[in-house]
Amino acid sequence: MKKISERIFYVGVNDDDKVLFEGLWPLPAGVSYNSYVVADEKVALIDTVESGFEEEFLENVREAAGGRALDYLVVNHMEPDHSSLITFILEEYPDLKILANAKTLPMLKGYHDVPEERVQIIAEGEAVSLGSCSLRFFMAPMVHWPETMVTWLEEENTLFAGDAFGTFGTVDENVVDEESTFGQYCDEMMRYYACIVGKYGKPVQTALQKLSGLDIKRICSTHGPVWETGIADVVALYDRMSRYEVERGVCIVYGSMYGNTAAAADALAMELEERGIPYAIHDLAGNNSGELGLSGALRDVFRYDTIVVGSPTYNNGIFPPVETFMKALQARLIKGRRFYAFGSYTWAGASVRQLNELASSMDFRLIGDGLSFPQAYTREKVDMASVADMLK
Ligand SMILES: Cc1cc2nc3c(=O)[nH]c(=O)nc-3n(C[C@H](O)[C@H](O)[C@H](O)COP(=O)(O)O)c2cc1C
Ligand SMILES: [Fe+2]
Ligand SMILES: [Fe+2]
Repeated sequence: MKKISERIFYVGVNDDDKVLFEGLWPLPAGVSYNSYVVADEKVALIDTVESGFEEEFLENVREAAGGRALDYLVVNHMEPDHSSLITFILEEYPDLKILANAKTLPMLKGYHDVPEERVQIIAEGEAVSLGSCSLRFFMAPMVHWPETMVTWLEEENTLFAGDAFGTFGTVDENVVDEESTFGQYCDEMMRYYACIVGKYGKPVQTALQKLSGLDIKRICSTHGPVWETGIADVVALYDRMSRYEVERGVCIVYGSMYGNTAAAADALAMELEERGIPYAIHDLAGNNSGELGLSGALRDVFRYDTIVVGSPTYNNGIFPPVETFMKALQARLIKGRRFYAFGSYTWAGASVRQLNELASSMDFRLIGDGLSFPQAYTREKVDMASVADMLK
């Protein structure tokens, strides 16, 4: 538990054990599930946390509420990383009412069998008074699910933002950010955005527009630090990413079974390095610890304007992990990137052609025909220096 202001308390938890977020995304620095208590004449809890943290969570809530009973539970978002302990909290506080919007109701019933009389449906812009302050609710559909809303506490200039402005990585004891915090979390916030929210650029823009009139002095997201000092930075980052704004640079993404496509990828990285072209390189099929795989690749697709993809030919097609990556680009509505493909084959190359077709279907601009090479990678056979020259 951490006191954030006279009325606001952090009651979230750190998860260092989960290996894959949503069963997909590696968590090298863990993740936090944030929840907050607003303690006024009435006491409100904003969201809950993932299951497995019942004891720690309840202890935090009790301490924050100073032993008083909770009056309200605000459900901003029904994804189980925030809603898992709803039943637990309802049982713990039998007089508590859930404040939720109409879209949330069927999800509440479906996940938690919540009786309707325990839910008070609130509408867009509606306020619920806690005494000296009140909570106001704004819908933020598809940031990250259709029922998603955010909660605004005017008297504290505080936005309880749900997944918006969230990041991977556990939070330290201070919870509230300092000057250096944004820099520390920036890469992980980008990876979080790219993996979790990346498909919803338009809805994020709509939400940013809607919230632009608020004088926000504190952002309480459901993942990562509470932002006070870094508000301008995190809002600018979300704005950039949801507009798909990128900088000049190359994101090399590859998969390889026997190392030949990988060797070509490494060679290209070296050539880019020599030319001083910014780049990132991600092995999709790698399982070395510390590698971010698909999630790192997606992060850097949101960073750089050029995507270079390596895949061997596999059963007349694209190597499956690379195909998954291409589908992930389609899902995230990535458009207008520069694109180049390469890869090894043994008897009839097909991957490069098929990658180019997928890229064209996404409105990418092909920088060249690509480089499909037979059997082993050698410097003489596979001219990555010329490819690097084209990518300047
Ligand atoms: C399961 C499997 C399927 C393959 N299918 C094809 C194919 O359809 N056409 C082809 O030319 N080579 C095919 N190959 C050969 C690979 O493309 C070739 O070994 C290539 O050099 C592998 O590149 P890598 O070292 O980057 O993994 C296949 C290899 C495997 C293991
Ligand atoms: Fe979510
Ligand atoms: Fe979440």
